[in-house]
Amino acid sequence: MNKAELIKKAKDARGLSYSPYSHFAVGAAVLTKDGQVFEGANIENSAYPLCMCAERNALYNAYMHGYKKDDLVALALIADTDEPCSPCGACRQVISELFPKNAPIYMVSLNGKEKETNIEELLPFAFSGEDLK
Ligand code: THU
Repeated sequence: MNKAELIKKAKDARGLSYSPYSHFAVGAAVLTKDGQVFEGANIENSAYPLCMCAERNALYNAYMHGYKKDDLVALALIADTDEPCSPCGACRQVISELFPKNAPIYMVSLNGKEKETNIEELLPFAFSGEDLK
């Protein structure tokens, strides 16, 4: 699966967003080494802090199918933003735990803008399990 196909999966997943409060739909897709794709969309709640982001749902989806950090090779996210949609801080922390540090993250906007990055760039000096030792 190439980058464009993964982005299309994220875009399709965005269609499953449940976002009646923010009206801001986000889609994400995680690619595994063996070519599987796991999607996520943001799912909101009337108790706002319970809203869950698309990226975390996609990663949790992959883990719930038995995949782990080293099995994952790329992550795409997309929303209707002027610039490529950037993961929130909470998602960055979760990505740093569950997703390889140098694997590509494709930030995309519906208008077609794309930016490739990785979690090392998005969350330098991350807190990690190593800090708990
Ligand atoms: N959201 C995501 O799903 N991913 C992000 O990286 C940014 C924010 C969601 C959370 C909430 O449902 C809506 O977008 C507005 O913040």
